[in-house]
Amino acid sequence: MPFPIERPRRLRRTATLRRMVRETTLSAADFVLPLFACGGKGVRREIKSMPGVAQLSVDGIVKEAKLAASVGVPAVILFGIPEDKDAEGSRGWDASGPVAVSVAEIKSALPEMLVITDVCMCEYTDHGHCGPLTRVKSGEACVDNDRTLDLLAREALCHARAGADIVAPSDMMDGRVGHIRAALDAEGFADIAILSYAAKYASAFYGPFREAAESAPKEGDRRGYQMDPANRREALREVRLDLDEGADMIMVKPALSYLDVIREVRDAVDVPVAAYNVSGEYSMVKAAAKAGMIDEERAMMEILLSIKRAGADFILTYHAIEAARALAKGPV
Ligand code: PBG
Repeated sequence: MPFPIERPRRLRRTATLRRMVRETTLSAADFVLPLFACGGKGVRREIKSMPGVAQLSVDGIVKEAKLAASVGVPAVILFGIPEDKDAEGSRGWDASGPVAVSVAEIKSALPEMLVITDVCMCEYTDHGHCGPLTRVKSGEACVDNDRTLDLLAREALCHARAGADIVAPSDMMDGRVGHIRAALDAEGFADIAILSYAAKYASAFYGPFREAAESAPKEGDRRGYQMDPANRREALREVRLDLDEGADMIMVKPALSYLDVIREVRDAVDVPVAAYNVSGEYSMVKAAAKAGMIDEERAMMEILLSIKRAGADFILTYHAIEAARALAKGPV
């Protein structure tokens, strides 16, 4: 037999041929843009560790949402930076706070845009944990799981009343999806969907986000409630529990170090699967590009494509607008 019969390179010869046999494609419609809403007017506070990302007052949030819509990005996810914080995180359900007002303003300016809200207490508590604490023992913070559930439900309701399309609990308390679902249904919000951060790992890659959201824990870390990066089976269990409690969509977070988890979850469930290309993943690309070490646009597109290839139906990413612009130039 003449060597070789099979020559995979035959299908790589030209750009047109490569495009025809491409297995995965990206589109602007795959992206969700995260935004950080703060009080005031005309405020734009750049996040040092995340070039191109800023805390924005509501007027700036609406502008950024319009920019996203203009390049074909269909959705945003909102995080809030409150004026003040307390041990319970009571600003989390402030009907006149930056998240609630941003939701209402985006929906009135851009009715077609999907508005997702992150539901968690860590931006609102003065200790920076994702719910009220029972104790901090030798560096280990213990968040009161069952007391947190009511607070999360209040926050989700506040966002739903403001007009959010989807609420996304990111706290990792047990039972929160069922609790939030029941609260939404009881108040007439049966149509509001829940995107649960089901498999959320205790990751070093959230570092820059905590600067952006001013939500770093003052003491201890989040390992008592977020998942151990070593665990794969546990991700499937978390996903199953959230689906049993009524989650409409589930998320794996972070994305890059967890591509195997995304794939496994995608194969195991029949609901939409999201992946969060988190702050540290974004900052690494920006820093390496600034140092002249990588081609920024190619690295960004390869990362987003790999998350999609792993099985994500959509991607939360700070690159959303620049990636949508790159796609508008033509196929990658
Ligand atoms: C809130 C929350 C976090 C992120 C999203 N929601 C931070 C955390 O858990 O500490 C991280 C997002 C990112 O790093 O881009 N709990």
